[in-house]
Amino acid sequence: MSRILITSALPYAAGAKHLGNLAGSMLPADVYARFQRSRGRETLYICATDEHGTPAELAAAAAGLPVADFCAQAHTKLYEIGRGFGLSFDHFGRSSSPQNHRLTQRFAQSLWEAGFIEERVTQQVYSLADRRFLPDRYVIGTCPHCGYDAARGDQCENCTRVLDPADLIHPRSAISGSTEIEIRDSKHLFLRQSLFAGKLRAWIEGKRSEWPNLVTSIALKWLDEGLQDRGITRDLSWGVPVNAIDWGPDPEGRRPDAAGLASKVFYVWFDAPIEYIGATWEWADAQAREAGREPDDADWERWWRAPGAADVTYVEFMGKDNVPFHTVGFPCTLFGVNEKVDAGGRFTPRENAPWKLVDELKGFNWLNYYGGKFSTSQKRGVFMDQALDLLPADYWRWWLTANAPESADSSFTWEQFQDQINADLADVLGNFVNRICKFAESRFEGVVPEGGQPGALDEKLEADVLAKLREYTGHMEEREFRKATAALRQLWVLGNQYLTEAAPWTAIKTDRDRAAVAVRYGLNLAALFGKVSEPFIPFAAEKIADALGEPYPGRWPSLEGGVLGTLEPGRPVRAPEVLFRKVEADQVAEWRERFGGPEAAAEPA
Ligand code: 2FM
Ligand code: ZN
Repeated sequence: MSRILITSALPYAAGAKHLGNLAGSMLPADVYARFQRSRGRETLYICATDEHGTPAELAAAAAGLPVADFCAQAHTKLYEIGRGFGLSFDHFGRSSSPQNHRLTQRFAQSLWEAGFIEERVTQQVYSLADRRFLPDRYVIGTCPHCGYDAARGDQCENCTRVLDPADLIHPRSAISGSTEIEIRDSKHLFLRQSLFAGKLRAWIEGKRSEWPNLVTSIALKWLDEGLQDRGITRDLSWGVPVNAIDWGPDPEGRRPDAAGLASKVFYVWFDAPIEYIGATWEWADAQAREAGREPDDADWERWWRAPGAADVTYVEFMGKDNVPFHTVGFPCTLFGVNEKVDAGGRFTPRENAPWKLVDELKGFNWLNYYGGKFSTSQKRGVFMDQALDLLPADYWRWWLTANAPESADSSFTWEQFQDQINADLADVLGNFVNRICKFAESRFEGVVPEGGQPGALDEKLEADVLAKLREYTGHMEEREFRKATAALRQLWVLGNQYLTEAAPWTAIKTDRDRAAVAVRYGLNLAALFGKVSEPFIPFAAEKIADALGEPYPGRWPSLEGGVLGTLEPGRPVRAPEVLFRKVEADQVAEWRERFGGPEAAAEPA
């Protein structure tokens, strides 16, 4: 049975994340991790804060804090909010960790020695007013591709194109707003991505039938536009330093100009994906510390390097803006470390324990707010910390995965949120569990009833449930979350239909055995619902398990049959506390007022 390694895009340590950030990376990764654990697979879900580069520096400056302190605080805060949402990270690391520093430097050194890195003199944006270089997000201007006038120097938020600060039209400093800008020479290291164009294309073509079309089309578009070599260092002081490396010679016997690179750090998009590995190393070190034993590299390498990782399926989750960095940037780093290329463009292995590349990549479109963008800078829409003050995590988890922007962008509105929460969670699932448990309490002394023989209605229920469960499980394996939530909802509906038809409250007046069968089936259904709903609504699932004396988290039921026979007659059961309260019209009115309604989306982001 394969082991499952899961990573979700690392959130920048740059302040609050909105629901769109959650919906497109950490939440689906968590749903999938919970599902795989419940299936009995050894699963490791890794995430971390992405702490380097201009996003963190700018946010720290805005908060008036030293960047290291700001990142430490942001890490703690994001971790706690994540826990509040029930995100079951096995480890939530930090890209500023010593482990990531060492790996990033080790990978760069290896790439240099294989001839995949080149030193180049580049033209960088320099601000006279700020008396410093302005890499990446330190420059704002008009996107040369789509004309968006608040594009950042690293990437246009509007058209998702990756940019060079010097490309921006009408550039200005993000620090001072000054337009007194000139272009100056600065020496940098470049990863020779263009060498990998053919190899990448073959690899991505091979994934066409497995990865969502969104992902392969973004990746192939990048390749079609011509793969550029990429600057992997920056004129910044916060980050993984370049000068700490003991460079060996490249194939031509050259070494980088250490003095010229002394004041630079690696580009955040070079070190951030390496932190997926770095955080696994952090996790293994923490495990060893807890167990009072010496750390062993084999503990984390077994997830990332052949041959130990041969049975690992590695699954990544991310929003569409991150796809190029994970289908092109990070794979180039790994190809370059794993292999060497000869003059004829042929690749041969270099590492005898090559690093693992992604197997399954789940990319998401945007979640919008009333059709417009959620905006961190404009504080439009709901942020993760605010959301938890309004309603329990399960409400958000359910809505955000049931409406995941899988095949197209989707939109959050308070009205749809209210309708769907009330219909699915309160009226269907909550009502079912409550009805059957209350009835068992009041008419069967709070135990699973004995007696009676199942009839055609019960047998049909079992067959229908099994068929739906198989369908649901298939969608979960495929990470098709909209389809999965639709199937799960249909499963819950089967429960309500059954209770309506079996009507134990009527049967009990004339035929106690018949009522006993219906209640026993109903309670078993409730236990099953708790178990298989856990990936989406873990807090409610735990309440259901507690009420029915079931272990939590439970094991996924067998798809071979016998799914309604777990609760033995005589077992004590009780009604759980209210699982879901309805979202009321006055709450919706208040929240619309507070966070903005359709009119807010009409304003430019
Ligand atoms: O877009 C972002 O929020 C980035 N911080 C994602 C990084 S993903 C990974 F590569 F680290
Ligand atoms: Zn653009």
